[in-house]
Amino acid sequence: MDVVTDIIAWKRDGHELDAERLTAFVGGVVAGSIPAYQASALLMAIVLRGLSPAETVDLCRAMVASGKTLDLSVIGRPVLDKHSSGGVGDKVTLVLAPLVAACGAVFGKMSGRGLGHTGGTLDKLESIPGFKVRLPQGEFLRQLERIGVAVVSQGERLVPADRILYALRDVTATVDNAGLIAASIMAKKIASGTAAIVLDLKVGDGAFMRTLEEARSLSRLCREIGAAFGRRVTCFFTAMDAPLGRAVGNRLEVEEAWDVLSGAGPDDVREVTLTLAGALLALSDLGVDETEGRRRAEAALADGRAAGMFERWCLMQGGRWQPGVFNRLAGVEVKAPRAGYVTAIGAMDVGRAAQTAGAGRQKVDDDVDPAAGVVLARGVGNAVATGDLLATVFARDAARRSRAAEVLAGAFAIGDALPPERALVLGRE
Ligand code: URA
Repeated sequence: MDVVTDIIAWKRDGHELDAERLTAFVGGVVAGSIPAYQASALLMAIVLRGLSPAETVDLCRAMVASGKTLDLSVIGRPVLDKHSSGGVGDKVTLVLAPLVAACGAVFGKMSGRGLGHTGGTLDKLESIPGFKVRLPQGEFLRQLERIGVAVVSQGERLVPADRILYALRDVTATVDNAGLIAASIMAKKIASGTAAIVLDLKVGDGAFMRTLEEARSLSRLCREIGAAFGRRVTCFFTAMDAPLGRAVGNRLEVEEAWDVLSGAGPDDVREVTLTLAGALLALSDLGVDETEGRRRAEAALADGRAAGMFERWCLMQGGRWQPGVFNRLAGVEVKAPRAGYVTAIGAMDVGRAAQTAGAGRQKVDDDVDPAAGVVLARGVGNAVATGDLLATVFARDAARRSRAAEVLAGAFAIGDALPPERALVLGRE
């Protein structure tokens, strides 16, 4: 086997890495025999030279093999999963998970924590008092059998290579590579044992992928990995130029998810959720197509079954869910500086404002404030008069509130003309 410098040089010079080299690299990183500086050098060579689809599949395979894998066959039914590439105000999993279970399918997800300007599902769930996201494996399986829904934190033993490599990528400017991202996302999905996955790839200012083209190349790689492992994968591309819904911040987003579960809530959150629900149900063993899947999901939102399943789910994971009951923080209002139409609400700026308010992390071990965040009062296309309320930012102390309000004010663009209608679902594969 090549020594590590040969593997780095091989990629540096533009050659393809075979499975043997990639396995040696991943194994060495996890065992600690390849130091961070050599791992980082190879990551940078990969970013500069790219990864072919075959290399991406082999890297993913080596990452899956770096730890334990979960066998979900004891459930006796396909377990469905959904992954979002990360967006601002993206609370879709909170609605989708109980919704799919309420329709009779099984939804099991191992989730990560949010870092940067986008929030993580686990932080949102933990804003419900008592909600436990660390479940022993046996409990995770039993819960899937009993109620058909569980969302938990990913155990330390699954894909340890990703934790090490992701932390290195984060500090060496090597996150942005479709092959590395696809292998990272899919290794966790493959190791957690789910049979079918719907990927919601966010596109726009607030997302990893700024263009549809970039998202399409990630989709191709993820589907290629899915095929190599016998997992069914459907990808959607959805807009992330503006935040999804009106609430950004952990508990604020759970409240909005509850509105959607109760048959109300913002149209965009509802639309993305129903689109993904239709696709997931079509990948289940219920024998429905996407149209029928969506129809069943709409019915479950309308007749209270989805909301009822959310309550059962919270209870099973120890959460004491009481809508509207939480420690509200003081808010600062951001007002319209002029009259006109709201032409844009920058997702990245809103995400940063929420993060500044305390809703997100700057570093992996930062605490998040469950009640902090932003609530938008106006959406893109709304008419405003000078001084109208645009948004409110909630934070625990005055200094954070005023810093966050400044960032938030910069998110809004107001113009004279009504902006063109935005498409929400940009495509699928
Ligand atoms: N999400 C992941 O899980 N991994 C990446 O590399 C990027 C986004």
